Amino acid sequence: MSAKPIVFFTRSAPPNGVALLAQDCELRIWESEDPIPREELLRRVKGVNALFVHPPIRVDSELFDAAGPQLKVVGTMSVGLDHIDLAECKKRNIPVGNTPGVLTSAVAELTVTLLLATARRMKAAFQAVHNGTWGTWESGMWMTGTLLEGKTLGVVGLGRIGMAATRRLKPFGFSRILYCGRNKKTYDAEVGAEFVDFFQLLKDSDIVIATCSITDENKGLFNKHAFKAMKNTAIFINVTRGALVNQDDLFEALTTGEIGSAGIDVTTPEPLPTDDKLLNLSNLTVSPHIGSATVESRSAMCELTARNILAGLKGGPLPSPVLF
Ligand code: DGY
Repeated sequence: MSAKPIVFFTRSAPPNGVALLAQDCELRIWESEDPIPREELLRRVKGVNALFVHPPIRVDSELFDAAGPQLKVVGTMSVGLDHIDLAECKKRNIPVGNTPGVLTSAVAELTVTLLLATARRMKAAFQAVHNGTWGTWESGMWMTGTLLEGKTLGVVGLGRIGMAATRRLKPFGFSRILYCGRNKKTYDAEVGAEFVDFFQLLKDSDIVIATCSITDENKGLFNKHAFKAMKNTAIFINVTRGALVNQDDLFEALTTGEIGSAGIDVTTPEPLPTDDKLLNLSNLTVSPHIGSATVESRSAMCELTARNILAGLKGGPLPSPVLF
């Protein structure tokens, strides 16, 4: 048996965090580009002391049983925790660390990117350049999109990421900014946001951005009823988790004109199969879950995950603990 604690990585990770852990630990890394098959994962975690995980790897009783009782800590290189059975971690007294804060700016910037790309039809515009259908000024309306200025923005979940996205969007000159969530936020005045209920927000907003974290209660929140309540011209943006959306209902809403267009960074499943019907829609922009994908954020996420693991291995408080 190794004298150093063993850390198992479910994927390779940026060098800074890997180097930090390598000083004191034996590292076992699933280096393949492809996700680790479940059976392989269960086999490889046997006897390890820490897990360095990436969503959507499921962390649950099956994985803990496969690892064994020497497992001391789980570090997830994500802010999202929907892949982790926290009740099971609590029951087994296994601390979990995640990476809030260090990816907020990156996800907020991606939210703005996706909104602008959707409002200005960038997917169709790029395609026109590449496939020789670049139009002219003749009709005056070729490839016209929607102005953000003067519109009503609705933010579902004015938390850390929602607030960061709204701060960046505010200078576009919205006429109103609405938000909804579990409760009214004390800091909403900074961006001049009004607290309303979910359906009021859907009804009044020209742009609806979902930035809330996923819970058991809000799975499928964006379903046919939600899309029906939205304006026919509405733009819908989702940067949280695919499970927030009923994708069949989104497809319907986009094809029947219930809503105008959508931009989503998250889907179910991920990756979305290339023959998925959603990918044929010209009024839907899909990016491949790249919200936190900047060099700066991913490096910071990796380092924080490494520090969480090192602290957990020593039995000390984690720098960024998940509170059960
Ligand atoms: C997160 O950290 O939860 C991001 O969505 C990346 O998975």
